[in-house]
Amino acid sequence: MTVTEQIDNPYLPEPARIVRHFDMIDDHRFFWIRHRDEERAMSFKYKPGQFIMLSLPGVGESPFSISSTPSRPGILELGIRKTGKLTDVLFQKKDNDLIYIRGPYGNGFQINQMKGKDILIVAGGLGVIPLRSILYYVLDNRDQFGRLYFMYGARSPSEFLFANEFFQLKDREDIECFYTVDQDSTGDWTEYVGVVTRLFENLPKLEAKNVNAVVCGPPIMYKFVINELLELKIPKNQIQMTLERRMKCGIGKCGHCVHDHIYTCIDGPVFNYFQVTQFKELI
Ligand SMILES: Cc1cc2nc3c(=O)[nH]c(=O)nc-3n(C[C@H](O)[C@H](O)[C@H](O)COP(=O)(O)OP(=O)(O)OC[C@H]3O[C@@H](n4cnc5c(N)ncnc54)[C@H](O)[C@@H]3O)c2cc1C
Ligand code: FES
Repeated sequence: MTVTEQIDNPYLPEPARIVRHFDMIDDHRFFWIRHRDEERAMSFKYKPGQFIMLSLPGVGESPFSISSTPSRPGILELGIRKTGKLTDVLFQKKDNDLIYIRGPYGNGFQINQMKGKDILIVAGGLGVIPLRSILYYVLDNRDQFGRLYFMYGARSPSEFLFANEFFQLKDREDIECFYTVDQDSTGDWTEYVGVVTRLFENLPKLEAKNVNAVVCGPPIMYKFVINELLELKIPKNQIQMTLERRMKCGIGKCGHCVHDHIYTCIDGPVFNYFQVTQFKELI
């Protein structure tokens, strides 16, 4: 046992391997990672909407949403944009290289509240990375939820993430998918063109009280999507959203993520819209 293991160190990361990776679009890479310890890999429990802290020794540590679903244990999937110090070095790593992770952290989605309800998932841009976890969780536990609607908007066809798998979902009868891009200059795009809120025109009539919505996307998107959801009369506490704030520790110690008295890392990153209305400028 090492000295750091003997003291109860909440920051102690665990080694994990990059099992496989591929480039989704420019500067956006998808990673399959697995705890080096086999038992830990299989027993690692998390909820859709939670995140891990990923570190590289001598480089740094940053939070990343878990994009896989706990209903498929063993592998953690991450979708990562190359933005700076840590991600620059991470993108130089190869399959089988070691990285370090700790977590899972954050509250995750209120799955129990969603059970038995129709689910409306609204994603914009990179926001689809955390929402992909709840999407596959609902698909893997299909009998526990009502109807499933999935809306996703990207800026252009070349920025549309997970295109192959999301287009395959369109063949399934237990989900209705609506995809859009803000602009298409390719002429090959066969789905909608326009901002994500335009997709609401295509929704069938919903029984609002029976709907749970989850939303994640760029800051500008929230206001407009929430207006649409409120117009549909979905109750405020049935609209969940995942919010990003600068984080350092991920466990409520450093104060980097505090907004009013809210610790985004432990009270969030998932909030319902009723909670959001209680805090100034949370979105
Ligand atoms: C809960 C949570 C989940 C996240 N999930 C993902 C994910 O799934 N995929 C992903 O690619 N990224 C995700 N991020 C963002 C990611 O943690 C940051 O981009 C991180 O800073 C990258 O580390 P870096 O060292 O490469 O970049 P840095 O060198 O730290 O920063 C690069 C640039 O990004 C800016 N920046 C850093 N952090 C943030 C932030 N939180 N918000 C806005 N700007 C920031 C910096 O000012 C700088 O301009 C998440 C963040 C949070 C809080
Ligand atoms: S990230 Fe340190 S308190 Fe939230």
